[in-house]
Amino acid sequence: MQNITQQIEKLREQLRYHNHRYYVLDDPEVPDAEYDRLFRELQALETEHPELVTADSPTQRVGGTPLSEFGEVRHAIPMLSLGNVFSDEELLAFDKRIHDRLKSDAEIEFAAEPKLDGLAISLLYENGVFTRAATRGDGETGEDVTQNVRTIEAIPLRLMGEGWPQVLEVRGEIYMPKAGFNALNERLRKEGTKTFVNPRNAAAGSLRQLDSRITAQRPLTIFCYAVGLVEGGAMPDTHYAMLQQLAAWGFRVCPDIRLVQGAQGCLEYYRNTGARRESLPYDIDGVVYKVNSIALQQALGFVSRAPRWATAHKFPAQEEITVLEDVEFQVGRTGALTPVARLKPVFVGGVTVSNATLHNMDEIERKDVRIGDSVIVRRAGDVIPEVARVILERRPPDSRQIEMPTHCPVCGSDVQRPEGEAVFRCTGGLYCPAQVKEAIKHFASRKAMNIDGLGDKLVEQFFEQGLIRHVDDLYRLIEKKEQIAALERMGEKSAENLVNALEKSKSTTLERFIFGLGIREVGEATAKALARHFGSLEALQSANEETLKRVPDVGPVVAANIAQFFQETHNRDTIQQLRELGVHWQDYAAKPLEALPLAGKTYVITGTLSRSRDEIKADLESLGAKVAGSVSKKTTALIAGENAGSKLEKAQNFGVEVIGEDGLSALLGHS
Ligand code: IVH
Repeated sequence: MQNITQQIEKLREQLRYHNHRYYVLDDPEVPDAEYDRLFRELQALETEHPELVTADSPTQRVGGTPLSEFGEVRHAIPMLSLGNVFSDEELLAFDKRIHDRLKSDAEIEFAAEPKLDGLAISLLYENGVFTRAATRGDGETGEDVTQNVRTIEAIPLRLMGEGWPQVLEVRGEIYMPKAGFNALNERLRKEGTKTFVNPRNAAAGSLRQLDSRITAQRPLTIFCYAVGLVEGGAMPDTHYAMLQQLAAWGFRVCPDIRLVQGAQGCLEYYRNTGARRESLPYDIDGVVYKVNSIALQQALGFVSRAPRWATAHKFPAQEEITVLEDVEFQVGRTGALTPVARLKPVFVGGVTVSNATLHNMDEIERKDVRIGDSVIVRRAGDVIPEVARVILERRPPDSRQIEMPTHCPVCGSDVQRPEGEAVFRCTGGLYCPAQVKEAIKHFASRKAMNIDGLGDKLVEQFFEQGLIRHVDDLYRLIEKKEQIAALERMGEKSAENLVNALEKSKSTTLERFIFGLGIREVGEATAKALARHFGSLEALQSANEETLKRVPDVGPVVAANIAQFFQETHNRDTIQQLRELGVHWQDYAAKPLEALPLAGKTYVITGTLSRSRDEIKADLESLGAKVAGSVSKKTTALIAGENAGSKLEKAQNFGVEVIGEDGLSALLGHS
């Protein structure tokens, strides 16, 4: 028996160690399989010897019998809240109050911490063993969530190291990391269940489950940031040292906590953390400053239900409620109509927002958005503001459905939804001023003609002033320097610079020019492939769909787009005009067939491969190879997929090389 007890204890120790490495330090030492092996070994021993199972065994995290309700826990020391500041001035006033109260000018050292957006929790350890967890509740009394908290692997069931007080209450924030939240919602969506609105709600919903087996499946974790009751032992005399001590005992402490000096140090931390907010793996809604010295904390004490020695410094809210007053449709370069919400102006994410994207009609339907609705607008970081969701409870009786217009709001042409596409498009093409304007912006942009200094705003201005109507008009601006100089926010110097930039951009490359044309679905990479393949614009312009499909990565849709683009007379005219105005580039030598890598070789394709035979044929031909229908002695190689039949036999008889999918990839330079 002694032997078994020792064996069990050793396994538990190993599992605790690896658990800590994995869940607390985010730095696993062994692969998951090794951990699982140890875990199963312990489980087997415990099943054989149920009398040896203890509450702090790593196997006791899976969740147990559902409760009918949570018990009550009275906090020995109340769980306080924090005061708030929302501006630099308020923070300076907080710092001044501390100095006044301490009657001291000496700069205060603060521990600056992210303000985590989760739920406060109290964890009780008796003789180093986890015995109880409670929510904050009203600060005096909370709910007993011990069973649920036990399932959170980042929370130690037994403390590491030594020197812990006999009774130790640790406080912290249980939260759901952003990645875990996204994965959870993805799973719920697949299961057809209701998703969570944000990581905080997901954490709260998961922790307050009467069935701890559900909690066990939720990606919860913790950052510890305070102690409550301490008996039979002492804690360090600064907040920061206390956190380090907690970490040494196996608690998870936020790695982004810093010691800072004075109010200026706080403000710097606030700005740095704000800038990092989006990239942090957890949600925060501000930062917290705490006087580092425990002696000073005690001297400062509390006012009502918050400490005088700490405050939260909140970020501007990223979500606000407002009213959706109307919806307009913006027309993009390719004619796509994007619904844009006109909102009652609202201050969110640090700016006043009066427009927000609604993405597309499918999104509108999914979110069930109507005109007149109260909506939640979200603006996170530099992301375009969006309508996140509707508050259905506040829907007015006269709310209106959002409808896609049948005609383009800019040019009046028909609006159509092409087969199989999510977007609706204006069919006006270059007749539609909105599309033309966007086309000009694209043509001038950095990756296209790279006309230095000609940004979207300036294109808008020229367009509104009637100075440009088409892409080629850009180069006619060169003759209109005085007119440009006279425009608002321009002047001679700017006009001069623009003219120079226009002149400079005339000398370009074929791929930039092709990309700049803005052919639908022809991005930078495709433009480059086309330029290299055809060598000249003339060759590209006269290529038919079949020829176009031979270019690597050009499928039937793109090929059709390209062919159609060059069929349109006004596109050909515009190109002609641009060349006459001096736009030029160096053609690539159209490669003579013999120079292609597979020139002179003949292949036969048979069996089932991962792509269609036509596609493979086009690829081989674009590299100069011939593709034949039957195997002969002259065949270079047989490309054989699965279930190859008589051709394979024939190739083997002739001694012709046979290559499979991998060999084909190598041949085409894909691998
Ligand atoms: S300390 C006496 N530190 O904010 C101070 N709280 O508004 C007690 N919170 O209930 C709290 N991050 O849930 C502290 N780094 C942090 C925090 C933090 C988030 C929450 C906590 C508390 C609430 C107070």
